[in-house]
Amino acid sequence: MKFFIDTADVEEIRQAQLRGWVDGVTTNPSLVAKTGKPFFSVIQEICKLVPGPVSAEVIGLKSEEMFREGMELAKIASNVVVKIPMTEDGMVAVKKLKAEGIKTNVTLVFTALQALLAAKAGATMVSPFVGRLDDIGADGMQLIEQIINMYGNYDFETEVLVASVRNPIHLQRAADLGADIATIPYKVMQQMTHHPLTDKGIKIFMEDWQKAQANLAR
Ligand code: E4P
Repeated sequence: MKFFIDTADVEEIRQAQLRGWVDGVTTNPSLVAKTGKPFFSVIQEICKLVPGPVSAEVIGLKSEEMFREGMELAKIASNVVVKIPMTEDGMVAVKKLKAEGIKTNVTLVFTALQALLAAKAGATMVSPFVGRLDDIGADGMQLIEQIINMYGNYDFETEVLVASVRNPIHLQRAADLGADIATIPYKVMQQMTHHPLTDKGIKIFMEDWQKAQANLAR
């Protein structure tokens, strides 16, 4: 399972990289806005840091604008993946970008049929937003199961990228289902690391060690 980090914060990416948790990066306009830096320079900086796929989202809503923006974004670095929203215009742009050899990530996917359409258009990755579905009282992970089962019936190359991950349970279920990729906020990566029994175990070992050292010194 590939781990992408869901952030535009370069320091978070560096920290996660030190721990071996970064196969790629996803950004979105909200995440880039949070950095306060210009869009192109943020993407450029991330692409220098991470050899894996780096998703950068288009802003235009018309297919021509999305295609043009996608072509510009792809010039930043060879690992840029153009993020396109799941709309009819978006699918036109995905098809055209694919014809140019440019990878795409279809974002804001909330149904299995949207994922099917993205695969038909030739998306490299599809991003179902599990957390935002949970937010409205639906079961986001059920959608992941549906998409994986559905893609399994055919020979699409589109990878399932679990997005809008909010907690470690999302990750556990994504891994159980065999999702290709999950994009994870750094905070959730940290939550996945910790367990109170691990901390307690370290404390006990340290105390026993100190006691043994004290006995030896007597
Ligand atoms: C990543 O590709 C998505 O933009 C991101 O996971 C959305 O997460 P959110 O729903 O927590 O904003």
